[in-house]
Amino acid sequence: APGSPALTPPMGWNSWNSFGCQITETQVRQAAEAMASSGMRDAGYRYVVVDDCWFDPQRDAQGNLRAHPTKFPSGMKALGDHIHSLGLKFGIYQAPNEKTCAQGSGAFPGATGSLGHEAQDARTFASWGVDYLKYDWCSRNGTRDEQVARFGIMRDALRATGRPIVYSINPNSYHAITGDKYNWGEVADMWRTTEDLLDIWQNGNVNSYPMGVGNVLDVTAPLAAQSGPGHWNDPDMLVVGRPGLTLNQSRSHFALWALMGSPLMAGNDVRSMSADISAVLRNSRLIAVNQDSLGAGGRRVRDDGNTEVFAKPLSDGSVAVGLFNRGGSTATVSTTAAQIGLSGGPFTLTDLWTGANSTSNGQISASVSSHGIAVFRVSGGTPLASQTSRLRGTGSGRC
Ligand code: DGJ
Repeated sequence: APGSPALTPPMGWNSWNSFGCQITETQVRQAAEAMASSGMRDAGYRYVVVDDCWFDPQRDAQGNLRAHPTKFPSGMKALGDHIHSLGLKFGIYQAPNEKTCAQGSGAFPGATGSLGHEAQDARTFASWGVDYLKYDWCSRNGTRDEQVARFGIMRDALRATGRPIVYSINPNSYHAITGDKYNWGEVADMWRTTEDLLDIWQNGNVNSYPMGVGNVLDVTAPLAAQSGPGHWNDPDMLVVGRPGLTLNQSRSHFALWALMGSPLMAGNDVRSMSADISAVLRNSRLIAVNQDSLGAGGRRVRDDGNTEVFAKPLSDGSVAVGLFNRGGSTATVSTTAAQIGLSGGPFTLTDLWTGANSTSNGQISASVSSHGIAVFRVSGGTPLASQTSRLRGTGSGRC
């Protein structure tokens, strides 16, 4: 959105996937400490976001939000101070309705949504040192116009505080599996494109909850042109390292989200992740692709059924390419330099998993395991003008 502090896709950790409504201050502090000690912070993950269920079920006598007295006994200002002292940034959650999502479902008492309290709550967040707000519609009610208006109120309230606060909205819980694909770039810095992503590979019924990695990918990939500096498609928090995915599936999920230019919000329990999962999340070559200043959303340039090719143009004229195998057995996945927008050559292919370099005259091909992805940075060529403008997208010039 205009004035966005998110010129590259936000990176961080969010409490919801591992802790849900049971989240406590102790867990957030431990997660923040693990972000620093594990190397996640130094790899670029900055925002520590406390999702739903952090608040007192009652506002105070002046209508101010306050921390839950037993779950967050030190209060949110002190928690934010601790997060900041670790070199991290502080994120929090609210809703543009009478109730937050967990209050609406009955999982948490009270009705302390921000509706009617937007300016007051934005000021409260700024006074606590909040750097990121997740704002979650979570209702079957409301037309798109009503959502645009309601989400716009908090955008303006946040900007009016003068504090740079990333504005992350979810217009889609209970709303969209294959539904409305609105471009929220004037409203928010990032917006969810789907319902919740769970740690499953693929739901065979594409119109049904829950959504898996493949389902969210299929809805979000065609929206690539909407992504850019200050306005990002958000295909939901990462389920990398969650128990329902194999290591290979976690690797593919991470690479695909990196190629799409998605926000990278880890959702695993970073206090106890394996070395393998930590290495996937901290892959500096894939993170560099994700954080590239051009901000292009990676496109699916080839779809052969079980195998697909994704390409993301980068600011130095190189292109990141993913050779993805969705099928049940090993397959050769191929593309060409021309298909990903490059002419000339010879090309250097840098394997983004291993760092190894090879040369090519234009053929880009790999044998890819079931549910795996090969990813390369292809450099040395000349961007094809027509391909480049197509791949980079048009009409996102808000930044
Ligand atoms: C629905 C959202 O999609 C989730 O990410 C999470 O924020 C929950 N609401 C919290 O209740």
